[in-house]
Amino acid sequence: MIDLYSDTQTRPTPGMREAMARAEVGDEQSGSDPTTNALCERVAALLGMEAGVFMPSGTMCNLASILVHTRPGDEIIVDDQSHIYNTEAAGSAAIGGVSVRALPTRVGLFTLAQVEAAIRPPQRTAPRSALVSVEQTTSFSGGTVWDVAEMRLIRDYAQARGLKAHIDGARLLNAVTATGIPAADYAAGFDSVWIDLSKGLGCPVGAVLCGSAAFVEAAWQWKYRLGGAMRQSGVLAAAGLYALDHHIAQLAEDNANAAWLHRAIADAPGLSFDPTAGQSNILCFTVDGLGVTASAFAAACLEDGVRIRALGPRQIRVTANLDVDRAGIERAATVIRARASAFATRART
Ligand SMILES: Cc1ncc(COP(=O)(O)O)c(C=O)c1O
Repeated sequence: MIDLYSDTQTRPTPGMREAMARAEVGDEQSGSDPTTNALCERVAALLGMEAGVFMPSGTMCNLASILVHTRPGDEIIVDDQSHIYNTEAAGSAAIGGVSVRALPTRVGLFTLAQVEAAIRPPQRTAPRSALVSVEQTTSFSGGTVWDVAEMRLIRDYAQARGLKAHIDGARLLNAVTATGIPAADYAAGFDSVWIDLSKGLGCPVGAVLCGSAAFVEAAWQWKYRLGGAMRQSGVLAAAGLYALDHHIAQLAEDNANAAWLHRAIADAPGLSFDPTAGQSNILCFTVDGLGVTASAFAAACLEDGVRIRALGPRQIRVTANLDVDRAGIERAATVIRARASAFATRART
């Protein structure tokens, strides 16, 4: 099976498992797990932030950030394809009492003009605009990389109007790898930012949320309330430290594999790609010209041993990851092309 469903499917490598087994541990909740502390310091330094807190998931990083930055009745601004809006079970509304303004986008990137129009002037009758969130890279719309200058314009405009600025950096390091722009340059000036360990970096669990010391202290309280405080979390943090030492280079391979796959299937019959496709490790395309749904197309590829993901009725997402090498990508390209040709021929007759 060639599994390109998501980079969350990766399994800990033998070296990572050894590092986990050797981890020095303590009690995370009381701040005395040395390996977790080391991981938080390391990621905070990487992102140029004052402090960090280890979280069980990226979803909890987003939720804790929203909970710290807002109060019930506030509104947050995100893109319409974002993880916060689509696949976090409306946690911000359910737990934070916050409404979500999802800006319409083609591939998850909104503009300063959209933010300008979305921020509400203070009014008794309106929710308070409290937070703007940028997803770097975009997840459901093809791993598109936000331009750092645009991020800064949005950050500055929002902050000047009293909003907080947040980065969902689940795949920030894929953007860093793609552009050569350091993570700290992307994160600079934002009020909160996090990276996921359980995606391209290959860890089984975890994410690190960073910001000012005061922000992290407040996020810690939400982590505790949400049941995310841990005990001997060093076993998990050791995987994160190992990944930062050994798996960053893999992200370049993942990005290159997605770009290779894009070139190999770009002219396959019936498949359509956005002009931004192939910027990082995620590749999206639609199956409009094939006369079948995305689910049917994904099921057909699975019969040939290639697992890809249907996102909605027309869109497919393919995610390069450390468990699939170039030979696997080549095989995936062959299968996707062959299945597309077969469906396209059938659609024409
Ligand atoms: C952009 C983005 N944000 C947040 C998350 C949530 O991360 P986790 O699965 O660690 O909760 C994901 C996971 O797929 C994601 O892709």
